[in-house]
Amino acid sequence: MILVTGGAGYIGSHIVKELTGRGYKTAVLDNLSTGHRASVPEELSFFTADLLDKEALDRAFETIRPGTVMHFAAKSIVPESISRPLDTFYQNLTGTMNLLSAMQKHGTGKMVFSSTAAVYGEPADVPINEEHPLKPTNPYGESKLFIEKIMSRLADSGSLQYISLRYFNAAGADPDGHLGEDHRPETHLVPLILAAAAGKKDDLLIYGNDYPTADGTAVRDYIHISDLASAHILALEALLKGSKTRSVYNLGNERGYSVMEVIKKAKKVTGKNINFRFGPRREGDPSTLVAGSGRIKKELKWQARHSDLENIIETAWKWHQENPHGYRD
Ligand SMILES: NC(=O)c1ccc[n+]([C@@H]2O[C@H](COP(=O)([O-])OP(=O)(O)OC[C@H]3O[C@@H](n4cnc5c(N)ncnc54)[C@H](O)[C@@H]3O)[C@@H](O)[C@H]2O)c1
Repeated sequence: MILVTGGAGYIGSHIVKELTGRGYKTAVLDNLSTGHRASVPEELSFFTADLLDKEALDRAFETIRPGTVMHFAAKSIVPESISRPLDTFYQNLTGTMNLLSAMQKHGTGKMVFSSTAAVYGEPADVPINEEHPLKPTNPYGESKLFIEKIMSRLADSGSLQYISLRYFNAAGADPDGHLGEDHRPETHLVPLILAAAAGKKDDLLIYGNDYPTADGTAVRDYIHISDLASAHILALEALLKGSKTRSVYNLGNERGYSVMEVIKKAKKVTGKNINFRFGPRREGDPSTLVAGSGRIKKELKWQARHSDLENIIETAWKWHQENPHGYRD
């Protein structure tokens, strides 16, 4: 049995679909703070519970006795982590410590963890590989780095096997059209652009047009949610085989696109006009973030098959058109 924390969120719900589609017995634990119950099939075991609630965690572990945990649940909005650092540290660190304690108590020894490119901070070199210095520039990235350090110490003690996946910018939607991205508030570029294309927003605010990039807007690496899903399955299988006791992998497309390039592609895909305006840069936003994902390609034989920008935008647009108000709940 696999317990997915945050399985009602954007990324978690897609991974749950992939897991169940491949026949893995799966249960979800989520406090629904940013997730949607409707994104998880009704028939799946679902614990509406907070990681801060140790007793609820105990009950979930006693009921399903998971062999592996996939841990997505977190506070992940960077500007919020800067304005309210204690909340991010408390939720992410205390929540994860409670989860790890429950795992130890109930004999669950394997975890796939959702980490982030934000652990690197301002890049010294691009593409960024896993050896890049770890100097997060915001509390969100720092909270994820602390968790990686805690997991590493637990692995030293022999009580945890883990794989930490450092995602770059997750984007796109389930190709079947059943699941999509519905953060409230939305802070991610692709859904914001599509909201402007759909006329749900007057325009898109672009943070900074004076970066040292070809067109002055920030460059990011967008990875399709289906490619994230396949990486999670490979990570899970490596843990189940016992071939990996601890690993850290970047997950990106190894190709950067500027904000203006994403807008241009979205205009082409949607056939709509997209109004935008420029504002100042945002604190702590690097100019260019592009992943080096060679390690996971080599060690787990992962490949990005769906992360062409056009496909990312097409799948996201399909879901947004069919679900103009997002999930029902
Ligand atoms: N979206 C990205 O581009 C991106 C990039 C890098 C890393 N990540 C990481 O991936 C993970 C998932 O991101 P997402 O975009 O799907 O976010 P999301 O907000 O859609 O999903 C997070 C889920 O966790 C749940 N949750 C939050 N705190 C909880 C708690 N204390 N107890 C129980 N449930 C809780 C929420 O209700 C939600 O369903 C996060 O850990 C995030 O830091 C995301």
